[in-house]
Amino acid sequence: MTPNIAHFNGELLPLERIAISPLDRGFIFGDGVYEVIPVYGGAMLRGREHFERLQRSMDEIKLRNPHTVDEWMALTGKLLAHHPGNQSVYIQVTRGAPQKRDHVMPKDLAPTVFMMVQPLASPSKDAIENGVACITHEDFRWAKCHIKSTSLLGNILARQLSAEAGATETILLRDGHVTEASSSNVFVVKDGVVLAPPQDHLILLGITYDLVTKLAAEGAVRLEIRPVAEAELRSADEVWLTSSTKEVLAVTTLDGKPVGNGKPGPAFRRMHALYQEYKARLRESRPVAA
Ligand code: PDD
Repeated sequence: MTPNIAHFNGELLPLERIAISPLDRGFIFGDGVYEVIPVYGGAMLRGREHFERLQRSMDEIKLRNPHTVDEWMALTGKLLAHHPGNQSVYIQVTRGAPQKRDHVMPKDLAPTVFMMVQPLASPSKDAIENGVACITHEDFRWAKCHIKSTSLLGNILARQLSAEAGATETILLRDGHVTEASSSNVFVVKDGVVLAPPQDHLILLGITYDLVTKLAAEGAVRLEIRPVAEAELRSADEVWLTSSTKEVLAVTTLDGKPVGNGKPGPAFRRMHALYQEYKARLRESRPVAA
């Protein structure tokens, strides 16, 4: 079998040959940040935007970025040369492996850089045509959800609730308002207007969320960024999930009750088409990862 080539601190090598110190702060503290970039036919979808967000996450946790955006793009391109087709690239940078465990951030420690590629699991035809089920729960995570941190215990606990209920996602509510879901952003549609929760520290500003707002503007879809009350979620005509791997998905049941008429709505179908057109343009304009 051909080895799964990954990137580790500047080297390309088989995934199973990569070994990380148990003192690495990523292992000990979850002290790191990450990105997930979808790749279609070798072309990264909004690769630069992902690496710009990586920079913002690193700034927030006071971690020195070992690479510029251009360097990241080039390194990812080299890795993707080993992985043709539709893929998802996972990039993780931790604060590195010091000599001892200490909460205080060590000075002058080389960060650990790891990248791997997995086949992109795009939404199924059934999920696109019929939508997916979600449950809701109180958002019990911390107050810095804008950082794409590898410390994902809150997100994992939230996701497990929906997994155990046989649902696709857990939509989170904080102080009576929608924040996001365990690993996706949430949009609500009422009377033809798409509502997006504010871009603050209580959500991860998704690259897909950002793209959806741009596609809405270009496609003359009315979209408002403002707090979305729980009552608006529960009485919505449509609810969507977005993420780099889910793209745009319609939520058709919420806590076991139908959303709107229980089928993906017209606003979803429009946004889904705009998103697919954007992907098609990407393939035409950039046939290789660059
Ligand atoms: N998750 N919110 C959270 C908490 C997320 O983890 C993600 C992405 C998003 C959507 O962000 P984007 O559109 O940039 O993918 C929102 C990734 C896919 C993951 O953890 O696997």
